[in-house]
Formats: sequence, C-alpha cells, structure tokens
Amino acid sequence: MSKGELTGQRALVTGANSGIGKGVALALGKAGAKVVVNYISSEEDANAVVEEIKANGSDALAIRADVSQEDQVQAMFRQMIDAWGSIDILVANAGVQRDADFTEMTLKQWQFVIDVNLTGQFLCAREAAREFVRRGIVPELSCSAGKIICMSSVHEVIPWAGHVNYAASKGGVNLMMQSIAQEMAEKKIRVNSISPGAIATPINTDAWETPQAREELLKLIPYHRVGLPEDIAKAAVWLASDASDYITGTSLFVDGGMTLYPGFREGG
Ligand code: NAI
Ligand code: BGC
Repeated sequence: MSKGELTGQRALVTGANSGIGKGVALALGKAGAKVVVNYISSEEDANAVVEEIKANGSDALAIRADVSQEDQVQAMFRQMIDAWGSIDILVANAGVQRDADFTEMTLKQWQFVIDVNLTGQFLCAREAAREFVRRGIVPELSCSAGKIICMSSVHEVIPWAGHVNYAASKGGVNLMMQSIAQEMAEKKIRVNSISPGAIATPINTDAWETPQAREELLKLIPYHRVGLPEDIAKAAVWLASDASDYITGTSLFVDGGMTLYPGFREGG
C-alpha cells in the first residue's frame, strides 16, 4: 500500500478511540486522509488518536456522538462537513457485545446491541450516502463518489451461542451492506464489509488475555495467531482506495481462516 494514496480524502471512523477503530483511523491518516475520530466515551483516548494522526502529518478531529441516536449522528456529519466540506470514506466500526444465555437474555440486552451494531451502521451509512449523492465524484480525489466500509464479523456467518443478539446484528449488517451496495452502485458509491475473526481488543479480552484462553482460541484459528487491529486497518485502507475499485457488495473475511471450519480438518 503506497503512502499517500488517500491524500485529500476525508474519512469518518466510528468508535475510533479504541481497538480496531483506532487502528483503522491511524492507518487512514498515514495513507493521507483527514480523519474524524468518533467516540462516545473516553474523550482522552479520542484526543490521543487525533494527536497521533496529526503527528504523522495528516489532520484529525474528535467528535462525540452516540451512533444509535439519529440526532447525534446527523449533528456529527454536519460538524464534519462544516469543517472539511464533505466526506469521502465512512468506516462504520462502532460495536458492542452484551452476552447472555439465550433464555436469560433480556430485551434490553437484545435491543442495545441491535441499536448500536445495526441501527448505528444504518444511520451513519445513510448520512454518508446522502452526502456522496449530493456531491458526486471528485476525480482528483477518487474515481468513486464515496466508500462505505461496514465492520461486520465472522459471526455474520458463524452462529454464536450465548451471543444471539450480536450474531443477529452482524447477520443484519451483511444484508444491509449488500442491499445498500445494490442500490447505490449506479451512483458510483462502493459499499463493502470487513468481517474480522478474533482480533485482540478490549471487546474480547477474556478470549486472549490468559495463556489458557489464548490456547483455546488458537484452536479456532488455522493460521494460528490472534489478529491485530493493524490486520484490519490494512484491509480498510485498501477497500477505501481506488485499488479496490470494482469491488462493491463484498464481505472481506480477515480471520486467519476462522471461517474455514477448522474442526473439520480431521473430522467430518
Ligand atoms: P472495542 O470495544 O475496542 O471498540 C468498540 C468501539 O465502539 C469503542 O470505541 C466504543 O466506545 C465504541 N462504541 C460503542 N458504542 C458506541 C456508540 N453507541 N456510539 C459510538 N461509539 C460506540 O472493540 P473492537 O474489537 O475494536 O470492535 C470494533 C468493531 O469490530 C465492532 O463492530 C466489533 O463488533 C467488530 N469486531 C471485533 C472483533 C474482535 O475480535 N475484536 C471481531 C469481529 C468484529
Ligand atoms: C467478537 C469477538 C470474538 C470474535 C471471534 C468478534 O465479532 O466481537 O469477541 O473474539 O468475533 O469469535
């Protein structure tokens, strides 16, 4: 990936003060994009990401907004467009887990995860698409009128006991992404997902923190290493760039082979 290939483009990454979102925001900045670092809590962490992007030579802006709230999402897009004129790249990354056995799962746990992971991506994608359509293609920046990248998960295809709300939200992201891609393609707007496997971040600390947990986790990963935010960030830069022009409606699995059903290596 050559440095500067996103120069002049304006990106918004939701949930960019932590984990995968932080990695993506830093990588987009290194590729030359200006980056809005969206956050809902830990303003200090968001400001630190902004400072790191600036130190690497690009511009950045921290904006607080709860992605599940329409008025806050709209205000965030207005603030970005007022500051930088438009948006070229959206990475709808913010996500949460609220795990529970199915028979114990409360409506609140179900609704919270659907609101953030699915409705949040809908609200952000809709605002981005509205601006892409209004503005159209800017040939000096990109041959596409805009790029949307949804952060999905291997659990858009792998059922996940104890995480019914989460798996349902990511399954929803897949058909939402494909349907938006189908509808917006004639406007030259590209819409894709990244579906990460197990990436070491605060969302899944229990799965990789102790040697025992890591050993169990590695049984599910044929490539035999836990993923890093940088693994996802590289894919995001590529999907945001013209190097991936002609790719739309695709879910890119970045999972070390987790979706290859490793249990069938010796069985079946
Ligand atoms: P994380 O917990 O480090 O990051 C989640 C981010 O979303 C945080 O910055 C959090 O503050 C933000 N957020 C939560 N609710 C929000 C809201 N209402 N409005 C705005 N921001 C909000 O976890 P991680 O792993 O970086 O997760 C990022 C995305 O990647 C999520 O969508 C997650 O489902 C997805 N993912 C993560 C995987 C992993 O193994 N870590 C694997 C597959 C998908
Ligand atoms: C979840 C993580 C989990 C990974 C692999 C992600 O979507 O957020 O908690 O480790 O999938 O199962």
